[in-house]
Amino acid sequence: KVTAVIMAGGRGERFWPKSRGNYPKQFLSLTKDGETMIQKTVKRLLPMVAMDDVFVVTNVSYAALVKEQLPQLPEENILLEPCARNTAPCIGLAAAVIRKKYGEAMMLVLPSDHLIRYEEMYVDTLRQAVAVAEKDQNLVTIGITPTYPETGYGYINFERDTDLGMAGVYRVERFVEKPDLETAKQYLASHRYLWNSGMFVWKASSILANLESLMPDIYAGLERIEAAVGTAEFPSVLETEYHAFRSESIDFGVMEKAENIYTLPGSFGWDDVGNWLAVERINSTNEYGNYIEGDVITIGTERSTICGGKRLIAAVGVEDLIVVDTDDAVLICAKDSTQDVKKVIENLKICN
Ligand code: GDD
Ligand code: MG
Repeated sequence: KVTAVIMAGGRGERFWPKSRGNYPKQFLSLTKDGETMIQKTVKRLLPMVAMDDVFVVTNVSYAALVKEQLPQLPEENILLEPCARNTAPCIGLAAAVIRKKYGEAMMLVLPSDHLIRYEEMYVDTLRQAVAVAEKDQNLVTIGITPTYPETGYGYINFERDTDLGMAGVYRVERFVEKPDLETAKQYLASHRYLWNSGMFVWKASSILANLESLMPDIYAGLERIEAAVGTAEFPSVLETEYHAFRSESIDFGVMEKAENIYTLPGSFGWDDVGNWLAVERINSTNEYGNYIEGDVITIGTERSTICGGKRLIAAVGVEDLIVVDTDDAVLICAKDSTQDVKKVIENLKICN
């Protein structure tokens, strides 16, 4: 049995003002086809996973958004976290529910806010990853060939020789989550590292065994949650146990410490749509290098992204600018500062 676990509880702060605390990036449409990121995530999986075997893990505050955007998803497959505890508890919760429901099953663990250009190749890569994860307690991460020293990603140091006898599969020597810039530069120059795409493939039993040895406190809570699945006590047990979890990502909590990690480099046109710069990359720009949405007039304007809202926007003689209008807030951002948009939210928090 192959299941998919879609992680959809992140806050997507770099897409302010379109994404808000109550409406994060995975629920936005950033492409002209109008499909939201999470809808695309589910749709591209369907050649491989039945809708009944797709699980979405998200914060309780996004329950209505998930139901509205994925009406075909069985309601019991929406796993609601009472509070945000990052991806290790999120994945643990899904693994516990899946083990209870199916005994054993493969899990494709996927972010909900990435874009994939070549969907057939993507499915092929996931199928190969399943074959690797079926062996022993292998953990598989999909790697991406890095193109610049991004510090917001995990890095995978891989060995070219692999004892599995499968082409295009590499044993992971070391996994390093979000290195500093100097380190990232060294990794890039060495040609021995891949980016971690944040997509993982493993059996429920494999990840639970790793959680048991590497995060025993969380595992103990997961066992109590698993015992309550399907009973009337489930909501209250989940509430109590989840609040007691510490916040930790799967990358720091498990991937940096685990053995038996393999990687498959994916070349399916991956884009993690990390900030506003991605919008011109994933949509086409016009002859002036502008990406324009809504009611916008440009005069002498180049290489800019302008997303209008309800009123007309006129841009005159500006370059390399990002402008996003919403009903109650406007973003005006230099293209080389898109990473700092999340600081707006920090400021808002301090002011409020
Ligand atoms: N359910 C749930 N609960 N989902 C969460 C939570 C949570 O508490 N926190 C984050 N997520 C979801 C996000 O919505 C996203 O789909 C995914 O989990 C990854 O979380 P991010 O917050 O976007 O992680 P990141 O971008 O900092 O880093 C991860 O992704 C990179 C690639 O995009 C890591 O896996 C890196 O190693 C990786 O390179
Ligand atoms: Mg991310």
